[in-house]
Amino acid sequence: MRHAETTEVIVASQLFGDIMRIAVPAESDPSEARVAATPETVKKFIGLGAEVAVQAGAGVKSGFLDADYAAAGASIVPDAAAAVANADIILRVRRPGLAELPGVKPGAAVIAVMDPYGHVDALNALASGGVSTFAMELMPRITRAQVMDVLSSQANLAGYRAVVDAAAEYGKAMPMMMTAAGTVPAAKVFIMGVGVAGLQAIATARRMGAIVTATDVRPATKEQVESLGAKFIAVEDEEFKQAETAGGYAKEMSAEYKAKQAALTASHIAKQDIVITTALIPGRPAPVLITAEMVHSMKPGSVIIDLAVERGGNCELSKPGETVVTVNGVKIVGHLNVAGRLPATASALYAKNLLAFVETLIDKETKALAIQWDDELVKATLLTKDGALVHPNFQLAA
Ligand code: NAI
Repeated sequence: MRHAETTEVIVASQLFGDIMRIAVPAESDPSEARVAATPETVKKFIGLGAEVAVQAGAGVKSGFLDADYAAAGASIVPDAAAAVANADIILRVRRPGLAELPGVKPGAAVIAVMDPYGHVDALNALASGGVSTFAMELMPRITRAQVMDVLSSQANLAGYRAVVDAAAEYGKAMPMMMTAAGTVPAAKVFIMGVGVAGLQAIATARRMGAIVTATDVRPATKEQVESLGAKFIAVEDEEFKQAETAGGYAKEMSAEYKAKQAALTASHIAKQDIVITTALIPGRPAPVLITAEMVHSMKPGSVIIDLAVERGGNCELSKPGETVVTVNGVKIVGHLNVAGRLPATASALYAKNLLAFVETLIDKETKALAIQWDDELVKATLLTKDGALVHPNFQLAA
């Protein structure tokens, strides 16, 4: 009898002890249509030796049905508690609250876009649950981690979607058309901020036949803009030539530069049909590039899409989550979560970013979770561990 019990224990541990369990709970924010795993990534996780539990309905808004996940090898479970129970890794799009992880194992890895700044209380609450949380948006922008870069994968789609949204709001056609009934002029589109989103916006607007101009404070963008067939517009003085940080980001510009830039762009904006703004400075509010006065200088029916609206906005009149129509008939569109407006594509790319990161957390031999705490990707993204908020950016706040 004793012998039989021992055998059972050994068999059970061989069967289940080291199997890595991955949970994909549904997003709790009703406005979030993305999902953290797709049937394709589920299949890959299973190929890596993991078991995957997907909460019923988690992928519906992205067009992935429970049956698709089941066909890929996932078990479909009724609620978050069932998904999270015994999970070693929990994949989410947005940061979950601890209450959304009922019964979570201390030491489990929670991986999401954590939106950590200004949310120390939420991070401390997660820490109190003993989970290790990883913020995907803090992934270093190094070659090895390009495949895990959620900022790029999502910003690229936001840039594309901004042009699609602008075209939908604009009461005229984008390309030039020569018809028997008359010639339709091409729309003039101005892109302000030429990072990942801005570059895709230029390419998309060009494909739709618009006449495209663009501006940025980083000199490196001039060649990129021109290589996409658009015209570069900026004050190219000494300050501009020094405007890029070693990390490749924009610096906050001086008041003098901003005034010169504003004077140059003001006359340009007055002639545009569509302006798409994407300008961001890491760790600071978005710079205001379009004043109320500039908006009022635009023609009726012109459209502004402010992609920086979640960080304070590049346009003085934009409102988060709203489309403002001014008295002079200019529409200022402030959609939130623009990448999430393409949930199927955004989920597919985000899920691949997660898969690539999770692969680095698994021991290839034992197929168990084996986080290398000294790996630079782990050090850069790890927010909480063993009950504490451990990320260096939060040492003072904590
Ligand atoms: P971002 O989202 O931080 O900012 C968007 C753009 O706004 C930037 O091009 C910035 O220069 C511009 N901007 C800021 N202030 C402005 C102002 N006053 N007027 C006009 N434009 C202004 O940028 P994102 O998309 O994250 O890209 C930043 C850099 O990182 C780029 O050089 C990009 O090529 C690089 N990058 C590198 C990657 C890698 O090596 N793995 C991956 C993705 C991006």
